[in-house]
Amino acid sequence: MRGKKLYINTIGCQMNVYDSGKMADMLYRANYQLTDAVSDADLVIVNTCAIREKAVQKVYSFLGRIKKLKQKNPGLRLVVAGCVAQQQGRAIASRFPQVDIVLGTHAVQQLPDLIQELEKHPRQIIATEMTDFIDEPGPADFSCAGLSASRDGIISDFVTIMRGCDNFCTYCVVPYVRGREISRQPQAIIAEIESLVQAGIREITLLGQNVNSYGIKENLTSFPDLLAMVNAVTGLERIRFVTSHPKDLSDALIEAFGTLDKLCNHIHLPVQSGSSRILKKMNRKYTRESYLEKIEKLRAVSPDIAITSDFIVGFPGETDQDFQETMDLIDRVGFDSVFAFEYSDRPEAPASRFKDKISPEIKHERLQALFKRQKEITRRLHEALVGRRFSVLIEGASKNQIKHTADADAVELTGRTSENRIVNFKAPADWGIDIDRRKGETKGVKIEAAYSNSFWGVVADRPEMR
Ligand code: SAH
Ligand code: SF4
Ligand code: F3S
Repeated sequence: MRGKKLYINTIGCQMNVYDSGKMADMLYRANYQLTDAVSDADLVIVNTCAIREKAVQKVYSFLGRIKKLKQKNPGLRLVVAGCVAQQQGRAIASRFPQVDIVLGTHAVQQLPDLIQELEKHPRQIIATEMTDFIDEPGPADFSCAGLSASRDGIISDFVTIMRGCDNFCTYCVVPYVRGREISRQPQAIIAEIESLVQAGIREITLLGQNVNSYGIKENLTSFPDLLAMVNAVTGLERIRFVTSHPKDLSDALIEAFGTLDKLCNHIHLPVQSGSSRILKKMNRKYTRESYLEKIEKLRAVSPDIAITSDFIVGFPGETDQDFQETMDLIDRVGFDSVFAFEYSDRPEAPASRFKDKISPEIKHERLQALFKRQKEITRRLHEALVGRRFSVLIEGASKNQIKHTADADAVELTGRTSENRIVNFKAPADWGIDIDRRKGETKGVKIEAAYSNSFWGVVADRPEMR
């Protein structure tokens, strides 16, 4: 019997998702069981994000909710982890007395000990010291028992290969809340991946703020060599990575898309702006032209590669002309999809002190115009894929269960192509109802209909695309 109930609310990027998984695994071993209902919990963790003001507001409103729950259940414990914890430290504990532990981004591994300490001497605990080493959990820490705590039944998982960031883009809070860039040892990464594969994981996404500079500071293996090592892990089907900074996208990494059979046919390459003038003010260290050259090189190696990106609109000083250059770049590249955000002042980041701030109205207008343009491009690209056959890694039964077929008993499955496109399809009748057995299998699927965020298809042999 499991003793206590744990609820985790993860806000922010994949790094936080990975850290939340680690916390769940560690606490599973300390007799905690995950619950989906916050009202049942004995321990609540909110893993926070500071990237934009909106993300921080989300944290505050969640803390308000927990305050009310604590009034009903005084035994409830509350941990604030992640980037807002690191950014604000003691200040967040003072402002929100309902907080028991403030767990900085370098303190994740200390959590079980801190909870024990808290039980012994109830008080607010602040753990926000930054370290210049990266914790190295050995393979024993990734036993199936731990995995089942948080990731039961999934086929795709994240592995952090490096922490922190040294790039100091002028708008960004990450270097201040995650600290300096540091890479893990390749052996530790491979060992972690091998144990995940043993536990049923088929797809791994390698995580870092700038994976392309993996190992450079520490004189370890280069990132393309690390990818080749991961490619050799038996039983692993697919490899993805985020994020690659355009300034460091090397020819060797571009080549890897042509040589490594498990490396997925997709790259997320955040450009932020199509104006070289703005890119300079952002301290991105590449130009519009050099970005477009890299896209050309990628397509020379893999003509069908899916390219996605991030944009910031309304960076201080962004003129209509600059924004038009962003729109023009969107037209030229033909991204599969994009994330785009209104620029948000971060007090630590230098751009918060730049002049010529853009009004909220103009930021909003530009964001809507960008989304509209991209929607048309995505629709065109997606429609052109109807009739083609792709390899789909099956993730399970389709959640939304929009019935595409007249047959009411038909089971609809969902999975992704190597390009990271979501494909739903009807399970062939002879697969029976035990669909869970099909999770993690790769099947050829012919696309029959394209929607804005997904596709519908039928099982077909011999996929033309990996
Ligand atoms: N390391 C990654 C990005 C991490 S943050 C990279 O270099 O690309 C994810 C995205 O959030 C960024 O790509 C950027 O588009 C957005 N972002 C970061 N800081 C922001 C800010 N102050 N305002 C608005 N968007 C921001
Ligand atoms: Fe932020 Fe730039 Fe580092 Fe990405 S590369 S995390 S945008 S500072
Ligand atoms: Fe947010 Fe921290 Fe990630 S600020 S985007 S959770 S690194």
